[in-house]
Amino acid sequence: MVLKYLLFAFWHIAIILFSVNPTLGSDDLPKFIQRDSSVDRSDMPKNIIAGSFAGGVNHLVPMLEICNILKNRGYNITLIAPGNFTAKSFSYSSIPQIIVDNNFDISKVYSTFEDDIFKMNHLNTFFAIMSYASSRYTDFYNIYKQIDEEVNADLFFCDYIMNFACFDIAWKLGKPVVGIATMLTYVSTPPLYRSDPLIGCHVTMENESFYSRFRCAIIEFSKYILYIVSSYNVNSQRAKVDVDPYWDTKGRISNILMLTNNFYGFEIPMALSPLHQEIGPILPDTFPNLTPDLNSFLTAHTRTIYFALGSFLRTTPQNLITILKSFVELIDRNIVDGVIWATVKSDISKLPSTSDNINISAILNNDYPNIHVIKYAPQFAILSHENTKLFLSHGGASSCHESIFNAKPMLILPLFGDQLGNAEKLELFGMALRLTDPYFKITDVVSKIQRLLNEESFKKNAERLQFLAKINSKRKYRGADLIEVVMNAEKFEGIKDNDGNLRIDNNVLLKEWITPNSRMGFIRGNYLDVYSAIIIIFLTLCVGSYYSLWTIARFFTKYKRSRNSRDSSKPKTE
Ligand SMILES: *[C@@H]1O[C@H](CO)[C@@H](O)[C@H](O)[C@H]1NC(C)=O
Ligand SMILES: *[C@@H]1O[C@H](CO)[C@@H](O)[C@H](O)[C@H]1NC(C)=O
Ligand SMILES: *[C@@H]1O[C@H](CO)[C@@H](O)[C@H](O)[C@H]1NC(C)=O
Ligand SMILES: *[C@@H]1O[C@H](CO)[C@@H](O)[C@H](O)[C@H]1NC(C)=O
Repeated sequence: MVLKYLLFAFWHIAIILFSVNPTLGSDDLPKFIQRDSSVDRSDMPKNIIAGSFAGGVNHLVPMLEICNILKNRGYNITLIAPGNFTAKSFSYSSIPQIIVDNNFDISKVYSTFEDDIFKMNHLNTFFAIMSYASSRYTDFYNIYKQIDEEVNADLFFCDYIMNFACFDIAWKLGKPVVGIATMLTYVSTPPLYRSDPLIGCHVTMENESFYSRFRCAIIEFSKYILYIVSSYNVNSQRAKVDVDPYWDTKGRISNILMLTNNFYGFEIPMALSPLHQEIGPILPDTFPNLTPDLNSFLTAHTRTIYFALGSFLRTTPQNLITILKSFVELIDRNIVDGVIWATVKSDISKLPSTSDNINISAILNNDYPNIHVIKYAPQFAILSHENTKLFLSHGGASSCHESIFNAKPMLILPLFGDQLGNAEKLELFGMALRLTDPYFKITDVVSKIQRLLNEESFKKNAERLQFLAKINSKRKYRGADLIEVVMNAEKFEGIKDNDGNLRIDNNVLLKEWITPNSRMGFIRGNYLDVYSAIIIIFLTLCVGSYYSLWTIARFFTKYKRSRNSRDSSKPKTE
């Protein structure tokens, strides 16, 4: 025993001596070497077409942030999107843009179904968006095709929303494609515990009754799917440009990399496919600063509310009046001392000049000292000011990201789409309250704002999320990295066609991330064959053992009966 320990000790000493030994004698070699993490991009494919159907700040900024990073790494980017965007922007002017529709204004598209938004007819809104998207399909397809002939793209980078043509052209040309979306729900199949207020359910069904989980998982979900399938007429457009039909209403996005501009903390947690990667919140590094006017207003008003409904939405004049009256009451009761309202698309000409002793024209003329009304505001700069205490918002994804990043509690008036879910999530996470009734009252607004400002938990929870947003906002570089990974896959997998261009198959290109079950078919992929076998074995065993027990039991009863009858017959014969 002692010998064993001694040997063990010697062994250890020997190891230490030997491992130290080589470095003792060689003074000329450094003790450490540097890991080389640089990558060789010299023969990497370089041309990227970035395409967006909807355009505008919300859709273009996340894409262009990633494009800027790729551009700095030596890639060539061409943006195809409606509206004259990059030339007029400060941060993205070096990215050339092919303008699809110079005078495109998404707010005009939305105003065509504004009544449905106001009445909260969410499915009608969805239908209108879908039919608009398919009506423009061939325009976009042909432009993508034409520009690709000039640029000879190596990769398409597509903003997901309504952009069927972008994914189709890449598939048709055999070129890799990467998508980017704001919400996971749009591009993946969420688990049943995640639902949506759009269909009258909740973002999480965690604490819902059996009835409500059944209703949301089966009835509402089927209604929603039926609605989408019945309004899905992209295939007739595809036929016009000789693209094969595709019946998945999400578009041709299976087996390709989808980036989502979001983060857990704002999303309800769920398991993700390796092909769906979260890289949000994507935020620019610089934002427009406060104007001198706004700066002096914010300095003079230490408890300011910022009110804005995003870049293209508006609410009813009636709601605007309710909100303005609430502001006046909050100021009169000294709950807040300042309000900044960025009207953007709100139609202030439709507001009456006075209402119940409140001089609305005075407010709109900035004659009212505590309320500052402007058309456009440097939103991020206002939210990052310490005197801004609350954000009254529609709850669009980028507004939420900016508010979280600056840890500002929110009162949310969701209007449509993902905003209803965003509002519910932020309320659940404890940094916001929402106005759910489309005909909300002054007392709703006042009491909710009072709570948001008085209860410390809202600010605390906002600060907790702020940390997540700050850490995760670095992931736009990861987004660019992932696109490079796809480029690299193309470099190795691409087969040169007659013109010397690389061709790939998007269904199999990303073998590092495509889970094997997608190739195994439905039955084998879900192991239904194995489960069926185990059920059959189990049933056979059950039936078998039941049958054996029954046989044995029958044997014994027979035996007993025959003995009994023998016993009973015996005395008779005796
Ligand atoms: C990038 O685009 C420019 C202009 O179209 C072209 O001159 C250049 O060769 C391209 N670079 C690469 C690497 O393809
Ligand atoms: C886009 O905007 C830039 C800068 O304002 C301008 O120079 C250019 O002519 C515009 N392009 C079109 C097609 O209107
Ligand atoms: C559900 O109820 C549990 C227990 O009361 C609570 O911890 C959890 O936060 C609730 N979840 C939601 C989404 O309300
Ligand atoms: C409202 O205020 C404006 C000044 O901004 C003034 O001209 C107008 O007379 C006021 N209206 C009423 C009804 O007090």
